[in-house]
Amino acid sequence: MNSLDQFWMPFTANRQFKAAPRLLARAKGMWYESHDGRKVLDGTSGLWCVNAGHGREEITEAVTRQLSELDFAPTFQMAHPIAFEFAEALQSIAPGGLDRVFFTNSGSESVDTALKIALAYQRAIGQGSRTKFIGRERGYHGVGFGGISVGGIVGNRRQFGSQLGGVDHMRHTHDPVRNGFTKGQPEHGAELADDLERLVNLHGAETIAAVIVEPMAGSTGVLLPPKGYLDRLREIATRHGILLIYDEVITGFGRLGTPFGVEAFGVVPDIVTTAKGITNGAIPMGAVFCSRAVHDAMMQGPVNAIELAHGYTYSGHPVACAAGLATLDIYAREQLLTRGAAMHAKWETAVHGFDHHPMVADVRNYGLVAGIELKPREGAPGARAYELFVDCFNSGLLVRATGDIIALSPPLIIEDEHIGTMMSIFGDALDRLK
Ligand SMILES: Cc1ncc(COP(=O)(O)O)c(C=O)c1O
Repeated sequence: MNSLDQFWMPFTANRQFKAAPRLLARAKGMWYESHDGRKVLDGTSGLWCVNAGHGREEITEAVTRQLSELDFAPTFQMAHPIAFEFAEALQSIAPGGLDRVFFTNSGSESVDTALKIALAYQRAIGQGSRTKFIGRERGYHGVGFGGISVGGIVGNRRQFGSQLGGVDHMRHTHDPVRNGFTKGQPEHGAELADDLERLVNLHGAETIAAVIVEPMAGSTGVLLPPKGYLDRLREIATRHGILLIYDEVITGFGRLGTPFGVEAFGVVPDIVTTAKGITNGAIPMGAVFCSRAVHDAMMQGPVNAIELAHGYTYSGHPVACAAGLATLDIYAREQLLTRGAAMHAKWETAVHGFDHHPMVADVRNYGLVAGIELKPREGAPGARAYELFVDCFNSGLLVRATGDIIALSPPLIIEDEHIGTMMSIFGDALDRLK
């Protein structure tokens, strides 16, 4: 590699990065190795996806075998056995029993797929006037036009202008004044779900197809749902014939100490979007889980009609399915989808060790995830978190910075000793912050 010029990097300050690059060249278990041979502890499961740790031989073997057996076959009016096999295997852990699976290749595609299914479902049950979506401030739903429209991130609005029409947003639930330094779910804020009722009164229930939320907002800084919030959202959505979509691209596959956020918070939506951990990040893939009611409503009309005019060339790609099956085996064998619950107490104690640090404004946690919010530097929002991220990387720890929040989400195979190393590197870097 001689030049960094050609690769236009995603979500990156390209010029800043290329002046001082950070390159990861190898990985095994909990550790990355940088291109200059330094060990870097993975505090972020790559990008919230390598839940079973890096370099899993079982996945490598399954992918290699599948590539030599069947590299690709279409799933439009044709199929191959492993796509059905994987969908069937997913049934055993399907969130809330939502066991009808539509395959995609990423979280963004899962979100757009879910939104389209919601529209098609409403039309199929004679509710074609329901074309609007309700999202939430500080929601991140990937980068498709549907996802950025229902998402609530100002940068997307500034850079990309007008988006999908007919979208409105509830307020976010982040309330550090009332809920600061909470362990687990915050006490205050269930009433914020009433924003959905307010928007129903404004737009008319008969115009709204679906409401979409992340059970825990990950990318915008680990924002947990207040106690009772999701129950209330479910109740309002059901009462008004609005589908509830959970975006579980981050919370799916064990992050919260349960297989999905559905089990963590005990509220079942109609549709769940996933990606990332579904293949342990080894091969791109996503899946949208739908209730039978949603699925079956679409299986009407003439049998020769294509029920949903949607799909990707690589929906149910055989190599991704092979990676997914091997990943599910590892999750089951090592009980990783509930390991976050087993490690929870140690994790919680460790991250809340920073509660009184002078640079820290808030600490929050659940399962094997934590958000550590820094006090912003006067006139330079986000600068401290970025500097901390760079310092941690140089000191041997990968963390994720978003605004002035550091998110920690280590692989679910984490052991006590790794927690110790993480907190020690992080604490030292925090002490060096100015
Ligand atoms: C909740 C949520 N939805 C969607 C996405 C988009 O996924 P992808 O980057 O695979 O398109 C992400 C990515 O982090 C996410 O956190």
